[in-house]
Order: sequence, then C-alpha cells, then structure tokens
Amino acid sequence: MNKARGKTPRRLTFQVFRYNPQDPESNPRMQSFELDEAPYMTLYIALNQIRETLDPSLQFDFACRSAVCGSCGMMVNGRPTLACRTLTSDLSDEIRLHPLPVFELIGDLSVDTGKWFRQMVERTEGWIHTQRDFDPAAPEQRMDDDLAQAIYESDRCIECGCCVASCGVANLDQDFAGPAGLNRLARFMMDPRDERTDSDWFEVVSTEDGVFGCLGLMACHDVCPKDLPLLEIHAYLRRKMLTTKLA
Ligand code: SF4
Ligand code: SF4
Ligand code: FES
Repeated sequence: MNKARGKTPRRLTFQVFRYNPQDPESNPRMQSFELDEAPYMTLYIALNQIRETLDPSLQFDFACRSAVCGSCGMMVNGRPTLACRTLTSDLSDEIRLHPLPVFELIGDLSVDTGKWFRQMVERTEGWIHTQRDFDPAAPEQRMDDDLAQAIYESDRCIECGCCVASCGVANLDQDFAGPAGLNRLARFMMDPRDERTDSDWFEVVSTEDGVFGCLGLMACHDVCPKDLPLLEIHAYLRRKMLTTKLA
C-alpha cells in the first residue's frame, strides 16, 4: 500500500481505455494521463481532475460518490470495483482503467448497466407475484426478524454490476441470470408474500441460465463492494432446488 500523506506527492500514471462506439472513426485504445496524487484522492477525484484539466471528452459515470448509487463500477487494474470508494493510495503508481465487461459500452469507462439489469429482471420476473388485491387499509404484514434480515441483506444490492463483470459464465452467456440475478431470485423466493409455487421457481431457477449454470468459484462474492453474502445466497438457492418436490 502506498501512502499519499507524505510531503512529496507521487506522480500517478492512468492508463485509460478510450473508445466511442458511436463514432465510426474511433478505435479502441489506451490513453495515458499523469496527475500528482493528493491526500485521500479517490478515483472519482482523479478522473474528474483528468476531465477538467486534461481531456473534457473522457466518459465515465458517477452520481452519489459514496458507494450508494452503483454507477461508478469499472475495472481497476483488472478487478471490478467502485471507483468512488477506491483510494489511489491503495494502488500502484500506474493505474489501468477499463469499462466493466458484459454490459453495453456507452463510451470509454461508461457502460449501460441499467439495460442488462432490466432484461435480467424481466427474464427472471424479479418482483412479488401475488393474486391478492392491494388493500391500502390492511394492517402491516408482520415478518419473522431473521427472515426480514435475510431479505434486507439481499435488498442491499446497488446493481453496480461488479459481480456480473467478475463472473466467467455471465461473460460468456448473456442469458445467464448472473450473481446479481440469482441474488434477486433468492430475495423473492424468501419473501412469504410471493405466491409462486415450487414448480414456478423450479422453472426459472433450476436451469443452466439459473443456479445450475453457476460454476461456484465465487469470484462474485469476493468482489461485491457491498459485501452481500452471495456465497450463502447461492447455497440457499441450490438447497431449495435440490429439495423441491415437484407435483
Ligand atoms: S460463483 Fe457462479 S455466479 Fe458467482 S462468479 Fe462464479 S459462476 Fe458467476
Ligand atoms: S451483488 Fe454486489 S457486486 Fe453484484 S450488483 Fe449487487 S452490489 Fe454490485
Ligand atoms: S458514484 Fe455512486 S456508487 Fe460510486
């Protein structure tokens, strides 16, 4: 680990992937930028400084700057992570930045995670299925504390796409639900308000595009910046599918 707190700032070199798929003249390439490191500099600060002082055309996404919105996922030295919470002091003098794979490239470091997540939610029907009419006057439905906590853990996903980018299967197969999709399926499978039957779940979860397409090496678990318990969530889905008794 390098410390940026010393008197002489490090000179950092950023090797940044550049490509504009909308421009027929554009070719994928790496471009080098240099900056003096500042104390507590994050990649968010560094990239904004590059855009403000060196190249206003550089594309990347940020909104919250505090690991909440999920928009700043990118490959930092080959590993998917959130740029807004990555300190340059934790990185070497030369920093390589690429867009997340799997997702449609908008330009440079910016990708369309929303499109991937939308199609995943539609394909896995990631919402509560119930026949009950909504009654706004009905009392709040109570839930066991442990169950509520388990659902809350899954719901903490910020849809940053880091786990999806790390997943070898998701990189090869656009139909695979991916770690974030499996997490979403588990979230609704646990929810007592969802009235889907075991057979309904079996059809969507117990397939090559569902939990049985997963190789189980857990790269997704290692990179999740929100520390979601993906290992336990995948184990839960496998257990449920292996014990399902179909009518
Ligand atoms: S454990 Fe499964 S979902 Fe996670 S990265 Fe590996 S193949 Fe993908
Ligand atoms: S599970 Fe973690 S890594 Fe995957 S999209 Fe959600 S927050 Fe990001
Ligand atoms: S800018 Fe929102 S998560 Fe990084």
